[in-house]
Amino acid sequence: MDYENIIVEIHDNVGLIRLNRPNALNALNEKLMREMVQAMQMFDDDPTIGAIVLTGSQKAFAAGADIKEMEQATTVEMLYNDRISLWDKIRAVSVPVIAAVSGVALGGGCELAMSCDMIVASHTTRFGQPEINLGVMPGAGGTQRLTRAVGKAIAMEMILNNRWLSADEAYQFGLVNRVVNAEIYLDEALRLAGEIAARAPVAIRLAKESVNAAYEMTLTEGLRFERRNFYFLFSTQDQKEGMNAFVNKREAKWQGK
Ligand code: CAA
Repeated sequence: MDYENIIVEIHDNVGLIRLNRPNALNALNEKLMREMVQAMQMFDDDPTIGAIVLTGSQKAFAAGADIKEMEQATTVEMLYNDRISLWDKIRAVSVPVIAAVSGVALGGGCELAMSCDMIVASHTTRFGQPEINLGVMPGAGGTQRLTRAVGKAIAMEMILNNRWLSADEAYQFGLVNRVVNAEIYLDEALRLAGEIAARAPVAIRLAKESVNAAYEMTLTEGLRFERRNFYFLFSTQDQKEGMNAFVNKREAKWQGK
């Protein structure tokens, strides 16, 4: 598959997608988003891929939605085109997606990182939602995901007054999983993704789905959802294998069945 705005690689069981518009700090134009979603779906459909890493460059994960593409847009065009609905497809990916983030993660870039399941950040990363400076506000999940991740006080300050977070602050506030040196952030994300990709595939998918359900459901509904998924896993060979391996003190061999 030929892509213009991304580079796609496979590292063992991990699919790697690199955003690649260096001259625009990986600003998320429609073409890039379509290519990125297509690559994610391709990896999700590939049974040999157990996790996806999404990254940019050391300088920029992504500087946000493409402002030049949106500058002249009208409300009606925005509504008809509804390009943010494309983002729902990221949410539908069933394998874990890990963002490897460095440099700027601003606006849609911050929202894209938050759309992933985990974030590994380099110590140079800056997270921000600067849309207020453009006379707009976050439109791809920023007001919702940031508030859930860092709490109302910090989210308000970031969204209403363009406060940026350093990588260490983002870690303190629970936005990212870990902060490492800029030289190794991608290797670290690939290592983490590789570990997850080596685990029981059906259980990984249902566990991801269940954690995400916590965003959508009441506690009672969420607990019921979790319990059903838990019981469902007893129909898999991997459950028999995993528990038998424990009992017999050997290492489990997962089949994804
Ligand atoms: N859209 C389009 N082009 C962008 C861009 C964006 N979001 N961000 C950077 N670029 C382009 C610049 O226009 C510039 O291109 P030219 O060389 O052709 O002029 C190139 O990338 C390099 O950028 P700078 O010269 O500005 O680089 P810098 O190092 O001086 O500054 C920066 C870096 C602070 C990130 C600055 O580029 C910036 O503020 N970018 C915009 C950030 C922003 O406002 N993001 C929110 C977008 S709206 C959004 O995301 C809505 C949503 O919720 C979905």
